[in-house]
Amino acid sequence: MQEQLVLAIDQGTTSSRTLIFNRKGDIVSQAQQDFEQLFPHEGWVEHDPLAIWDSQLKTMKQSISQLDLTSKRIAAIGITNQRETTLVWDRQTGKPVYNAIVWQDRRTAGYCNELRKAGHADMIQEKTGLILDAYFSATKLKWILDQQPGLRDRAKAGELCFGTVDTWLIWNLTGGTNFVTDTSNASRTMLFNIHQLNWDQELLDLFDIPVAILPEVRESSEVYGKTLADLFGEAIPIAGIAGDQQAALFGQLCWEKGMLKNTYGTGCFMLMNTGTEPVLSQNKLLTTVAWTIGGVTHYALEGSVFIAGAAVQWVRDGLKLIDHSPQIEDLARSVPDNGGMYFVPALTGLAAPYWDPYARGSVFGITRGSTLGHFARATLEGIAFQVYDIVQAMEGDAQTSGVEFRVDGGASANNLLMQFQADICQFPVVRPKVVETTAMGAAFLAGLAAGYWEDKGHLSQQWEVDTRFDPQKEAPEVEGLLTGWEKAVERSRQWMD
Ligand code: G3P
Repeated sequence: MQEQLVLAIDQGTTSSRTLIFNRKGDIVSQAQQDFEQLFPHEGWVEHDPLAIWDSQLKTMKQSISQLDLTSKRIAAIGITNQRETTLVWDRQTGKPVYNAIVWQDRRTAGYCNELRKAGHADMIQEKTGLILDAYFSATKLKWILDQQPGLRDRAKAGELCFGTVDTWLIWNLTGGTNFVTDTSNASRTMLFNIHQLNWDQELLDLFDIPVAILPEVRESSEVYGKTLADLFGEAIPIAGIAGDQQAALFGQLCWEKGMLKNTYGTGCFMLMNTGTEPVLSQNKLLTTVAWTIGGVTHYALEGSVFIAGAAVQWVRDGLKLIDHSPQIEDLARSVPDNGGMYFVPALTGLAAPYWDPYARGSVFGITRGSTLGHFARATLEGIAFQVYDIVQAMEGDAQTSGVEFRVDGGASANNLLMQFQADICQFPVVRPKVVETTAMGAAFLAGLAAGYWEDKGHLSQQWEVDTRFDPQKEAPEVEGLLTGWEKAVERSRQWMD
């Protein structure tokens, strides 16, 4: 009998990856391919849609070819992806009409300011849970349709397709027969009503987007269709879709209200499950659909930090104080505490909950006794403090305190950082054995729909704790540290005044 496996597509901002999981949740094969980032103008970021598809397909084929197919076969495919990135293509030929406009692209920031001045921000936040910003797909899609005369008419006539990356990949995998997305990806477009779970006509009118260009919105775990048989030797069911941060929340088994996950990458993405009711933020966080499964939609609050692992990269590549990122932990351990030093790593401004593009990286509390060790410690602590600020905002919005904090991403390997995070948050930080939780989440969603894993109980057995960091610092010490951080942040925002 052939062993059944689940394949997860993890289509990210800088690389396409494929990971194949067995029933125990082990990774049995994987492949990765980077693709080109295009920066045609200051503040613009694009991808070639065909490069996304080609690189993804290559990694799928490569990871499958590493398996012994006489004894193994793929039972289902789950997709997780960079969110918000906007693609438009011809329904007939499948040819893109423009490059993909990437979530980081700021070309529509001016238009967003106009909308804000015209008083649309509150309505947009109420309906979509999002803060009016160029980050999301709506203004990018409008920009594409505004570019060439006739494009909007073609969209109206149903000749064009808009999709986020999930939709684009499924379209290609199914030879253009499936034009779908899921609620988690739809909720990042700024066109989707997260309460009614449908495309919102008032928003479509505001952005002048014809409804005929939009994909069908489906649940996050269901069989949407099958791949073309000739791609992989047989038609494989595609059975799960979720945006990457939501997939990580699912893969971390944060299924109950109040559960939090944080991904420590270049920046941080933190999500808190708020249960089946959307919580609109009073603290400039995003409200987003986490997933829809079996007719039940879960929501999340989301906050991001722009500079997390990137602060360590800067210490390594900019200041050249270390050769490899993990060395920062040893350096930080060379001193018992921060010696009164605070580093606010606002190298590109501050994200949630401050949203201050003018704040800049700042170091405070330097004395003649300060050492590189203190600076290393202040760098790691600066990451944790920013995360703490988001936790605070989330707890305020959700009227609940975090129960446990699950972590993944490169910098989650740093034990000193994780311990400090637990200390200042005053609740346990838990790092799982498999930190590929994004891909795992996509595999789980697909495996559930395909009957590969019977139920969520079965999935819980795949997730194992590697290390649990319990808070060790006493409250007065934590308060002192937080006061120092608060002052430092305040000053990092006023340095030009
Ligand atoms: O919202 C953007 C996010 O989904 C991108 O994630 O991991 O591809 O940088 P990543």
